[in-house]
Amino acid sequence: MTAIDAAALEPTIEHWFAQGAAAAGNKDALAAFLQLRDALESGSLRSAEPDAAAPTGWRVNAWVKRGILLGFRLGALEEMRGRSPGGAGGALLSFVDKATYPARHFTAEDGIRIVPGGSSVRSGAFLARGVVMMPPAYVNAGAYVDEGTMIDSHALVGSCAQIGKRVHLSAAAQIGGVLEPVNASPVIIEDDCLIGGNTGVYEGTIVRARAVLAAGVILTRGTPVYDLPNDAILKATADTPLIIPSGAVVVAGSRPIQHGPGKTLGLSVYTPIIVKYRDEKTDLSTTLEDLLR
Ligand SMILES: CC(C)(COP(=O)(O)OP(=O)(O)OC[C@H]1O[C@@H](n2cnc3c(N)ncnc32)[C@H](O)[C@@H]1OP(=O)(O)O)[C@@H](O)C(=O)NCCC(=O)NCCS
Repeated sequence: MTAIDAAALEPTIEHWFAQGAAAAGNKDALAAFLQLRDALESGSLRSAEPDAAAPTGWRVNAWVKRGILLGFRLGALEEMRGRSPGGAGGALLSFVDKATYPARHFTAEDGIRIVPGGSSVRSGAFLARGVVMMPPAYVNAGAYVDEGTMIDSHALVGSCAQIGKRVHLSAAAQIGGVLEPVNASPVIIEDDCLIGGNTGVYEGTIVRARAVLAAGVILTRGTPVYDLPNDAILKATADTPLIIPSGAVVVAGSRPIQHGPGKTLGLSVYTPIIVKYRDEKTDLSTTLEDLLR
């Protein structure tokens, strides 16, 4: 979609979103939403995109998120049928979802591998060429997954999450979705990050390029991150989400509670710790199986 198309679509989407429940059943509203959905799926329109002028380096396109919400309002529940791998011989599967958000369909020409076994990419999500999805995994509406990224088994890419190039989302990595509030930044994982097994990245957290989250790290708005090499504590503020710096190597740690009954009882709380910044050893530890790609 060209900038001019986006400029034309924005007021139309805003108009129909402002109509509230009155938009339901309107053919023009549906046409505008479908145009938005196509643009999202082609990757030419994004719910958030890099913007050097923005304080976090990312701009949220709140109108696009409103358009995605409009799609939920416009869609009635519908039964969706498909066959498990095996063509006509495969078992018939039944699902029910909003008619405006069926699962996406891909062909070999798309250059994306979706290994059979219970994975789904919802309409309005973008997968670039070279993306590999191991089963089961799920990519929700509005998400953007860039070239060469691996989405391993049991991984979730939540609504509107932005995943960079050559990222490895390891088994059971959970990348949270943020649709509302519409001006809230989605979770963003920049290029070349390794997101370890059983990690969770939520509430608009930004993980800068080449950072490594060791297995089990959980990040939310309320999670302070102890940056040992820089002797600093990283936190979200009222205006900015939690940001993991470029190249940080974050492991799951703990710290003793400093006050109250927690201190008396000798309890600790979970705390992510930046133990170092990426070096050659990290590159070696995170080298992935190119042959499987
Ligand atoms: C983070 C990781 C990449 C190691 O990076 P590395 O640069 O090789 O780290 P190092 O071995 O140099 O360790 C640096 C320090 O962090 C500690 N550390 C490393 N990994 C850790 C972990 N996962 N948890 C806790 N501490 C860890 C080391 O003990 C070391 O501490 P020290 O300096 O006090 O001895 C690795 O631990 C990891 O989690 N890999 C991802 C595994 C995964 O999820 N794979 C999924 C593939 S499907």
